[in-house]
Amino acid sequence: MSIAGYTYGTPAVPRAQMTLEQLDTLKRTVLFTEEDAAWLRKSRDILAPQVEQILDVWYGFVGSNPHLLESFKSRKDGKPVAAYLEAVRKRFGQWILDTAAANYDQAWLDYQEEIGRRHHRTKKNQTDGVDAAEHIPFRYLIALVYPITYTLVPFLAKDGAPAEDVQKMHQAWLKSVLMQVILWSRPYVREGDY
Ligand code: HEM
Repeated sequence: MSIAGYTYGTPAVPRAQMTLEQLDTLKRTVLFTEEDAAWLRKSRDILAPQVEQILDVWYGFVGSNPHLLESFKSRKDGKPVAAYLEAVRKRFGQWILDTAAANYDQAWLDYQEEIGRRHHRTKKNQTDGVDAAEHIPFRYLIALVYPITYTLVPFLAKDGAPAEDVQKMHQAWLKSVLMQVILWSRPYVREGDY
């Protein structure tokens, strides 16, 4: 199945400025280990059948916060662009699986910087050809790390995994999403300061 605008692993994605060696030092800085990668992969089987319900929760959160929903609103009539919300939702669902796959190779790294550009005015709206808000404020990008990972807990616990394992999967998700948002931040940071 192909997902519109999902270009992970294709030549359409430019090479990341960050190197795999620099990614390694970032991993060390957030205390992300091979053990975390294994917990993420374990979470994949638990989360895969629940992707739609997870997206319902996350979209519910965005939809009920006008300052977040703003990013999906048309610049013409101020209404949320339904086709945009729907297209992004599909890629977001795939992102859950990709995050849980914990495959930190060059293609993954390249796509992280692409996702950053898609949140920033550099490339927002282009993938879906929409005329929505031109930019997502940096502060919300960082802030969303907490609700995105905290709301996963009941889904991680759904299969009856021991509380200790749920905690380990949650911590691995928190570190991974934090790391990704750091990678996405590049276009937001002044040249030379990243
Ligand atoms: C931890 C923080 C965040 C995560 C994990 C996240 C995740 C994602 C993912 C996976 C995509 C699709 C990437 C792709 O094209 O393959 C996306 C796109 C998008 N996100 Fe976020 N996001 C975050 C923060 C935010 C915030 C704070 C907003 C503002 C409401 C937002 C609004 C959007 C919009 C509008 C798009 C579509 C961008 C485009 O035009 O291509 N995101 N996000």
